[in-house]
Amino acid sequence: MTATIIDGNALSASIRENIRAKVGLLQQAGKRPPGLAIILVGTDEASHVYVRGKRRDCAQVGFKLDARYPDASITQDDLLAMISELNEDQSIDGILVQLPLPDHIDNLAIIEAIHPDKDVDGFHPYNVGRLVLRHPGLRPCTPMGVMRLIRHTGVKIRGMDATVIGVSNHVGRPMGLELLLAGCTVAATHKFTSNTQKHVEGADIVVSAVGIPGLIKGEWIKPGAIVIDVGLTRGKNGKLHGDVEFESASKRAGWITPVPGGVGPMTRVSMLENTLYAMETFHSK
Ligand code: GUN
Repeated sequence: MTATIIDGNALSASIRENIRAKVGLLQQAGKRPPGLAIILVGTDEASHVYVRGKRRDCAQVGFKLDARYPDASITQDDLLAMISELNEDQSIDGILVQLPLPDHIDNLAIIEAIHPDKDVDGFHPYNVGRLVLRHPGLRPCTPMGVMRLIRHTGVKIRGMDATVIGVSNHVGRPMGLELLLAGCTVAATHKFTSNTQKHVEGADIVVSAVGIPGLIKGEWIKPGAIVIDVGLTRGKNGKLHGDVEFESASKRAGWITPVPGGVGPMTRVSMLENTLYAMETFHSK
């Protein structure tokens, strides 16, 4: 068997085009565009790369962007005041505080300060709670993008066995909740799991979000499985690697995402979708 590649670049481009068209309609109707505020504290290089990508995405679809770059020495109170101002701003539908934050800032206090209706990352405990309670509002972007990729295969996943490798707050845990909501039987493996292989071998759907290149061996994959690789690690030669051994896994899987060009672009477009959703659902009066 040779797996079908699930092309996140192509799928995200079609979703982005739909968003661009909707923004065009808003403009024709004399309405304001969706507005996204991004706060990037300090000089972390990877964060600046991510935020440049998000800025480009916003420009492409016609969103208003308010990007702020406070110095790494900003106090928590000043950052909270900035968020409070953006919470009140009627032209802003989404607020994204790029993580990681400097050590002197309490991440949870910052996430909790963002109004849940503007929490386009889906990280606020209110939005996580809604997902737990099966009434999702704004959803974490990577799991949301992964569900789109899985649905794009056309496979009916209700009742399937899914294994998520990695249990981070922003990817692994909400990923498990999304799959549970979709009717899968979900296993979540982590650094204390004694036998990850066993859980992968039995899975119809494998989502790996760890950041260890080659952790998931090709021969572990159940024939015909859907394999989604969220891992993204830059090797010494500058090349990007996923968690899954792609060559061998793609000989057994039914569907597999490439790295790069699989999950990454879907995470980015989910942020745009969330911003438009926030405007339409909460801020269009
Ligand atoms: N840092 C890396 N990825 C993300 C993300 O999706 N959202 C935020 N806020 N910070 C990040």
